Amino acid sequence: MEYAEPPDPILGVTEAYKRDTSPDKLNLGVGAYRTEELQPYMLEVVKKAERIMIDSEDNKEYLPIEGLADFNKATAELLLGKDNAAIREGRVTTLQSLSGTGSLRVGAAFIGKFLPGRTVYLSNPTWGNHKNIFADAGVEWKEYRYFDKATIGLDFEGMTADLEAAPDGSIAVLHGCAHNPTGVDPTREQWGAIADLCERKGHLPFFDVAYQGFASGSLDDDAWAPRFFANRGIEIMVAQSYSKNLGLYAERVGAINFVLADAAAAKRVLSQIKRIARALYSNPPVHGARIASTVISRPELFAEWNTEMDEMAGRIKSVRQLLYDELTKLEPSRDWSFVTRQIGMFSFTGLSPKQARTWLPGRCSLPCCNVENMTQKHHVYMTKDGRISLAGLSAAKTPALAAAIVDSFKV
Ligand code: LMR
Repeated sequence: MEYAEPPDPILGVTEAYKRDTSPDKLNLGVGAYRTEELQPYMLEVVKKAERIMIDSEDNKEYLPIEGLADFNKATAELLLGKDNAAIREGRVTTLQSLSGTGSLRVGAAFIGKFLPGRTVYLSNPTWGNHKNIFADAGVEWKEYRYFDKATIGLDFEGMTADLEAAPDGSIAVLHGCAHNPTGVDPTREQWGAIADLCERKGHLPFFDVAYQGFASGSLDDDAWAPRFFANRGIEIMVAQSYSKNLGLYAERVGAINFVLADAAAAKRVLSQIKRIARALYSNPPVHGARIASTVISRPELFAEWNTEMDEMAGRIKSVRQLLYDELTKLEPSRDWSFVTRQIGMFSFTGLSPKQARTWLPGRCSLPCCNVENMTQKHHVYMTKDGRISLAGLSAAKTPALAAAIVDSFKV
């Protein structure tokens, strides 16, 4: 083995943060929710579900390869809506998998095996792990334009031109809501045009839904895009994660869903993804899936979950507003309105490494770009693409963060 891999672009930031001994350090790298005291948050509703589970003395036998039946039913209904026609008609296949990453990986293996020669199109930029996941499954990926640096908004023309130029039957990976890392989503009208394009070109949309309920505080609003495609009769794949919205990061709870043209296809696809999952990890863990299905299926817990999610989303929105206010106060000549226009956990700041070399957080001797300046001088840890996780920011730390950003734009 000749080469050591550089640290992971996202999880490697946490490793570097842990090595920093400064009392002022701030970890805005990984997208993980923190309280105003910057502590991890365990949802009260999760604790209640776990108490119910202990009392019911469920066993720890293997789950079926496709996972917990109650969870699979609950998660498909949460995604598509309870009265969804595709569910009623048996056209939906759901397999519980290992949060967003595992679900995407099963989907990627399915594409590699059954849609050979089809290229996956990822937004530029996208979540750091997408390229890794498809490459690991041996699936070719390319990028479509997404982010317009000039407007700090969606490059809708670029996006649709690139998806139009892609060969018919390509796979388009779409972020269901709260695009990671930019926080910039298409409008509903633009989603309509993207759906038209996919239908006309025979593209297969593969949604990554990592923030349902966490972006807007509403489970229905955040699932609008995949529901819209499914209700139009377009076949879709959807990866779901419960890491953020239920705070079940380490439990690895998620699912891969296929909404298909008919029930026979749904049965065939299930048999194939079971085979893929069996080879990758055999069967999924039970604990987190039981928590999620308990919360989703009990009306009183479901209502409480919605309240807690709304509180988390609300805290992120309030630090977003505060950051905008502080930045505007410090540097009124710059337009900071992108901070409040972006949605979800992240802000895409426009800070970026100027050098093309690999950057190791905290390891370079001199700050040579503005992201390094954030880390080395100000002890603010963030991903090198300029993304900061506002879920890891407190109101108390916001003035210091704003000062660090303004200072770093001068580097
Ligand atoms: C993130 O984007 O920070 C999260 O989804 C965590 C991860 O696994 O990368």
